[in-house]
Amino acid sequence: MNEKLKQIKDLVELELKDSIKVEDIENIKVKYLGKKGEITIILKTLGQMAPEDRKEAGSLINTLRQEVESIIEHNYIILKDSEIEKKINSEKIDISIDKFSEEIGNKHPLTMVLDDIKEIFIGMGYSIAEGPEVEYAEINFDALNTPKDHPARDLQDTFYITEDIILRTQTSPVQARTMRNQKPPIKIICPGRVYRSDNVDSTHSPMFHQVEGLVVDKNITMSDLKGTLETFAKTYFGDNTKIRLRPHHFPFTEPSAEVDVSCFVCDGVGCKVCKGEGWIEILGAGMVHPNVLEAAGIDSKIYSGFAFGMGLERIAMTKFDINDMRYLYENDVRFLKQF
Ligand code: DAH
Repeated sequence: MNEKLKQIKDLVELELKDSIKVEDIENIKVKYLGKKGEITIILKTLGQMAPEDRKEAGSLINTLRQEVESIIEHNYIILKDSEIEKKINSEKIDISIDKFSEEIGNKHPLTMVLDDIKEIFIGMGYSIAEGPEVEYAEINFDALNTPKDHPARDLQDTFYITEDIILRTQTSPVQARTMRNQKPPIKIICPGRVYRSDNVDSTHSPMFHQVEGLVVDKNITMSDLKGTLETFAKTYFGDNTKIRLRPHHFPFTEPSAEVDVSCFVCDGVGCKVCKGEGWIEILGAGMVHPNVLEAAGIDSKIYSGFAFGMGLERIAMTKFDINDMRYLYENDVRFLKQF
């Protein structure tokens, strides 16, 4: 009997040694300790033994059973732990990856220019006004002293949605909208997209950006306009910058001027950027035409104002030395990354 029990114990130990999975150990447990397990069956034979042998055999079998139970349990725990550890290792998330290694983009050059312009004018007490890109022809033109027979209203100059509704050709209609809704003093800049039916080339695009400026109050004069633009030019292009006003015509201002800044690269001597001129044209401006004030319900005998409008593309191209406007819209990161 003793010999047989010892053999069983050896077998159990051998089989445990070869187990690689938790299920293997569960199977060993069933094989030896289950209802029909080898040790259980031997226990059942106790009843058939002579009473004098039964006690000793019973105690031997029970000892074996306890020993086998305990080594099975021991091996089970070891294998289970190692399986859990393997699972944890295989499912590990690498939290050491630097989340900041993702590439961060930068502002589009037009946005950079606009942000700088906004900051300068906000610093001078201006607020930002906005208007729709789909605009009434009446506000885009008539309200700005540009009647129906004016050449700017030619179908070829503008995108017409209906006869009365267009894509705005300038940010100037925001002047009219603001004056209709707000009493002077008015001091606004209006950035936004504008549209013209131009063919695309290195200096033209059917969609581009402008920033409009409007000041209306009592006693506003041409010297206020000049001082404002000079302050803007010096802040934006540098302290040495001078401005020059050349007579021009805009329907909505009288007198009107085109405004140049002295070249910020060569200081007015003449270079590639200013095409040898020493000056760079940056905007149109003038004193708000009395007809424009009156059309918006503002008494032109009490109030006067100045206005200006500049093209963002033109400023960005001069400032960053970009020689083709199309680069600004192609969204090629190799280009955009440079600024
Ligand atoms: N709207 C004009 C344009 O698109 C620019 C302009 C000129 C705006 C003079 C003004 C201004 O407000 O006073 O060419």
